[in-house]
Amino acid sequence: MTLVFASNNSHKLEEVRQIMPAGVEVLSLKDIGFAAEIEETGTTLLENSRLKAQTVWEWLKIKAEGEWRGAKVDGVFADDTGLEIDALDGKPGVYTARWYRQGAYDDVQGTKDMNEQEIFTANRAKALRELVGKTNRDAQFKTVITLIRQDETLQIEGVVRGRIAEQERGEGGFGYDPVFIPEGYNETFAELPAEIKNNISHRARALAKLVEQL
Ligand code: IMP
Repeated sequence: MTLVFASNNSHKLEEVRQIMPAGVEVLSLKDIGFAAEIEETGTTLLENSRLKAQTVWEWLKIKAEGEWRGAKVDGVFADDTGLEIDALDGKPGVYTARWYRQGAYDDVQGTKDMNEQEIFTANRAKALRELVGKTNRDAQFKTVITLIRQDETLQIEGVVRGRIAEQERGEGGFGYDPVFIPEGYNETFAELPAEIKNNISHRARALAKLVEQL
């Protein structure tokens, strides 16, 4: 089976390829020659993951009649992920990717030129800042995956509970991983081996449910 993963995030792609069972080939947007940026204009994770999968599915159907280099593409899936912090009423949620820009940081000069790592760093700093003085550091990552194939659209959710660390720890993973400690562990996702993250994470849980439906 061949599925396209509708994401430009190389970290996510690597994780998804590690998690998916043998027998499911995962093509990237680069693989299929989809170069456009998909704007995440939805107001929920459900809407944004659907938007990404739908855009690529339509493009693939029109551009290549559902085929990629002569091979049938069975479907397109996309994930949208949010960090939801209990003490902040579930924020940043759908705004997780660019949280650093909201509030006091709206006016920061030159943020448009920030690279991916700088954005991740600024986002983590914001998470630590927002929780200063708060005793409840509980949080969760939520991933919504949308899979579109010929006759159906599936939407599936995966959640991992945990808490926000007092400071950054670890070098692995990406995004908020250095400040997120999953339930049952003392280490952050960035300190834990990739195999553990890819076994218990929000994305792993959503993908496991997706695989059951394939
Ligand atoms: P997206 O909108 O689904 O691409 O993801 C939003 C943001 O959530 C990303 O830019 C990352 O900062 C963060 N994120 C998504 N997945 C993870 C993860 O597995 N670990 C840490 N941060 C993540």
